[in-house]
Amino acid sequence: MSEKRATAIASPNIAFIKYWGDRDPALRLPANASLSMTLASLQTETTVIFDDRLESDQIEIDGSPVAEKAANRVKLHLNLIRTLSGDPAFASIRSESNFPTGAGIASSASAFAALSAAASAAAGLEIDDKQLSILARRGSGSAARSIFGGFVQLFSGELNEDGYAEQLAPADHWQLLDLIAVVRKEHKYTGSSEGHQLAPTSPIQDARVRDTARRQEICKTAILQKDFIALAQIVEQDSNLMHSVMMTSEPSLFYLEPESISIMKQVILWRKAGLDVCYTIDAGPNVHCICSADDSIEVERQLRSIDGILDVYRCAPGDGVVLATNNEQTPQ
Ligand code: PMV
Repeated sequence: MSEKRATAIASPNIAFIKYWGDRDPALRLPANASLSMTLASLQTETTVIFDDRLESDQIEIDGSPVAEKAANRVKLHLNLIRTLSGDPAFASIRSESNFPTGAGIASSASAFAALSAAASAAAGLEIDDKQLSILARRGSGSAARSIFGGFVQLFSGELNEDGYAEQLAPADHWQLLDLIAVVRKEHKYTGSSEGHQLAPTSPIQDARVRDTARRQEICKTAILQKDFIALAQIVEQDSNLMHSVMMTSEPSLFYLEPESISIMKQVILWRKAGLDVCYTIDAGPNVHCICSADDSIEVERQLRSIDGILDVYRCAPGDGVVLATNNEQTPQ
């Protein structure tokens, strides 16, 4: 009898150029390339124990057994790792996040990055960060980016092996902050997995995908040159494009709430008044206000004066996934 365990910690990321829609849904190969900043302070810690005495996978998220749909997604991911390692043992999984999950704060990114790192280490797989990124992508496209810290790009790829992320610049390259204005804490109605499947039903998705290389290039250059105004313009345009696709899908998807729109409009005014700040919104109503560290105190003060903002999380650029413990085969 044997027990193989590992614990990993990963952070979510905020996409500056967003992935929306899958070229290959089974492989979760993104329809377009994307670019993100990994977020410090927010994290998911996951422990995986493969134990050949277990008769099924046991999954607990934030202290509770997980619903069937989410459990099946985790089991599918574990099956990939079991196939790679050749060991069919079931696993016990415990995962905790220090932020609300499923509300547009990319909890699936930190969850599948931490799960991939912990499970592959527990299973004794020797894989590099590129392979780990490909594996994480199979669980959640954005998770491929959370393997790395700082500023990260994800290639869309034609084949499974081409769809991986790599670091563009480390976390200390640029002191940006993501001030996340939380307007809803509950779980979103339509998850991004279903949303990706709806993307091709929008008549503007093709145009958005075809234009990605231009946006990705402008964003990359803005980050490398630390040009905030160029970054702000492309980040807001990219977010608006993705939400336009969502709203014009069949059926349509509206993630924005009235408070989200109020914040977006305020952010534009604050930038006109001289603050380095721009907005971007994932598949949820919460607004990520990207700003310079210098302007972040004033941006946070202004955000907190808007009605309907429940909280503001401050996230600097963070590190990639780390393995916290890795106990090799413990004989029982
Ligand atoms: O990784 P997923 O399937 O949760 O998709 C992420 C989708 C967005 O967060 C909206 C955009 C992105 O690139 O992170």
